Amino acid sequence: MAKKYLNFKFSEFTTNKNFKFSRKKILKVLPEKHLLDAHKVISKWKRYKKTPLINLRILSKKLRTNNIFYKDESKRFGLKSFKALGGAYAVEKIVKNKKKVTVSTATAGNHGKSVSWGAKKIGAKCKIFISENVSNTRAIEMEKLGADVIRVKGNYEKSLKICKEISNKRGWKIIQDVAWRNYEYVPKLTMAGYSVMIKEISNQTKHYITHVFLQAGVGGMAAGIISGIAKYFKRIPKIIVIEPENANCVMKSIKYGYQKKVNIQKQSIMGGMSCAEVSLVPWRILKNAVNNCVSVSDKYVPQTLTMLAKKKFGDKKIIAGECSTPGVISVISCCNDPIVKKKLEINEESNILIIGCEGDTDKNLYNKLYKIGNQKLKKYD
Ligand SMILES: Cc1ncc(COP(=O)(O)O)c(C=O)c1O
Repeated sequence: MAKKYLNFKFSEFTTNKNFKFSRKKILKVLPEKHLLDAHKVISKWKRYKKTPLINLRILSKKLRTNNIFYKDESKRFGLKSFKALGGAYAVEKIVKNKKKVTVSTATAGNHGKSVSWGAKKIGAKCKIFISENVSNTRAIEMEKLGADVIRVKGNYEKSLKICKEISNKRGWKIIQDVAWRNYEYVPKLTMAGYSVMIKEISNQTKHYITHVFLQAGVGGMAAGIISGIAKYFKRIPKIIVIEPENANCVMKSIKYGYQKKVNIQKQSIMGGMSCAEVSLVPWRILKNAVNNCVSVSDKYVPQTLTMLAKKKFGDKKIIAGECSTPGVISVISCCNDPIVKKKLEINEESNILIIGCEGDTDKNLYNKLYKIGNQKLKKYD
């Protein structure tokens, strides 16, 4: 790579030995009727608009591909993340027209915002449980949407445990984006909501997408998008899952062939992706539908975020939150490794899709990372 600042390396790259993409199997896990309904309902919401599909022309030219498309979810309903499609849709389906329902959830931030927004939209009460790791900025955003925010001592898992205990006692409806035994319907609804991104993309470009790079936390977004691919795309692209190197639970599970928990030694700056265990429903899809997994280091996050804002990759300024950077980081890393580039068959005919899953959902963090990134870039100028 000519430019030193694009000298990215992935931490680990693996191939799925159990790869076997089956539209039928995927749509058995997440039935078509859910996908169709999600699009029907969400596209009727006030202010619904497809989020932009931006061509990162400069990056594509540098990496010698045909196109690199960036789905810009920072523009989603003013909530600035793809999560707006999931939680809010699930709230609407669960509450229906019943009055006096209270919904609840545990969240790292964006999912809770979606649930709060969905509850506000239909006049339901909302209780949000957050861990010690969730910033005050994020808590205030949810309060502004009318939710009661309850801070729990401990990590995300603890906040979910407390959410379950209190909600069960009080009869609140839990709207969670992760599945557990006998709790699959709601997470399926959230994933169906995420598939709307692919429905939109199928009408936003005439190019067949050849590669999709998908971030994963618990895997809901990745599996929701893969269901969309199974339903809406004529040709199946190569599917590559990206995770932080400290929280590579999908990669580990793909390697072992079963849901493998990781012991997170250090939380990733990509907070929404800092998850220790892949969720049950997504796992049923990911275990066979994913071609490869890549893990990346946090160290490239600030400069990538800054480069997206400074139009270094395309003609448009992109406000990309920390979780929006690993798509770009992993595409560059894979192209920098000739063996991996060849293995993935990335070439002049490739049309690569990256999901820019959030904008500056935490403004303080965004500004901090932008400054760090800017200083780094100055060194190269
Ligand atoms: C803000 C945010 N949260 C969470 C995730 C991960 O989603 P999931 O936990 O469904 O895999 C992402 C996407 O990678 C994200 O951008």
